[in-house]
Amino acid sequence: MTSKTDVPGVALISGSGSGIGRATALAFAQAGCTRLALLDLNEAGLSTTKELIEEAVGSNTSLKVHIFKCDVSNPDSVTRAYTGVKETFSRLDYAVHCAGVIYFGRSTDFSLEDFDKQNNVNYRGLWLCSREALRIMRSQSLDCDAYPEAQIPPTRAQRGSIVNISSGLALVSQSNCPAYSGAKAGALAVTRSDGIDYASERIRVNAVLPGIVDSPMTNPDPETRKWLETNPVQSTPMRRFGLPEEIADVCVFLAGNKASFVTGAGWCVDGGFIAGMAY
Ligand SMILES: NC(=O)c1ccc[n+]([C@@H]2O[C@H](COP(=O)([O-])OP(=O)(O)OC[C@H]3O[C@@H](n4cnc5c(N)ncnc54)[C@H](O)[C@@H]3O)[C@@H](O)[C@H]2O)c1
Repeated sequence: MTSKTDVPGVALISGSGSGIGRATALAFAQAGCTRLALLDLNEAGLSTTKELIEEAVGSNTSLKVHIFKCDVSNPDSVTRAYTGVKETFSRLDYAVHCAGVIYFGRSTDFSLEDFDKQNNVNYRGLWLCSREALRIMRSQSLDCDAYPEAQIPPTRAQRGSIVNISSGLALVSQSNCPAYSGAKAGALAVTRSDGIDYASERIRVNAVLPGIVDSPMTNPDPETRKWLETNPVQSTPMRRFGLPEEIADVCVFLAGNKASFVTGAGWCVDGGFIAGMAY
């Protein structure tokens, strides 16, 4: 039997209760992935994502969507969730780490508490998640053996693939975001390092660096929204917000075997934002 999907197996998406994570979970399901683990702090958001997936894909498939409440800033919570995913699905083929928060403020106006909260989710939390994913992936067989029906060529086979969501602000600066930028730069650096360390075990690790995307994160209050519309969006060559699904599609591509020679990379998905910094 020929596979109908480029993403056979089990996909985990952290931060899938909202925005880019939700869109990524939907994109995996629409690409034919039938086993999805949805992680977030926000259980109501996860339930909505599950409903949206079931609506989009229909009930006549072998779709299995499981919700795991998880606080990525808490190591025990992360271990519990990833252990739960392994127990539920036996494998973990793709992990996309989207959970994130943003607190604005110049360094001299920023509290240590907010600095720590930012790092504990965006950098330390991402590393905790990625470490658990790597532990599971290292211990499992190649996907060409696990899913023979997918007819994955041995050269392109993988044991697993991780996509970490960083940000364009890992590469360039914007006013009022030192703690966020630092955490996202850390996420990119961890990605490169893990990409190198696990290449020989056939685990790929990549990062996506979104530009300015229309999500609840970019809608915190009317004043900030207005600032975003008139500053970063206007210095984006495409002069618009990206859509969560435009980030999601790149995540699904990078996760799957079609991206089999891509590892340790940071992909900008930003309407030309980074390319056009001298704009
Ligand atoms: N929206 C943008 O313009 C933009 C740009 C660049 C990068 N990003 C990054 O993309 C990712 C997704 O952002 P989004 O725009 O979808 O925002 P969002 O606010 O819509 O989604 C973030 C999700 O992360 C979850 N989350 C927050 N703290 C958590 C925790 N401790 N444990 C588990 N889950 C937690 C939230 O509950 C939420 O569901 C984030 O990492 C963000 O930094 C967003």
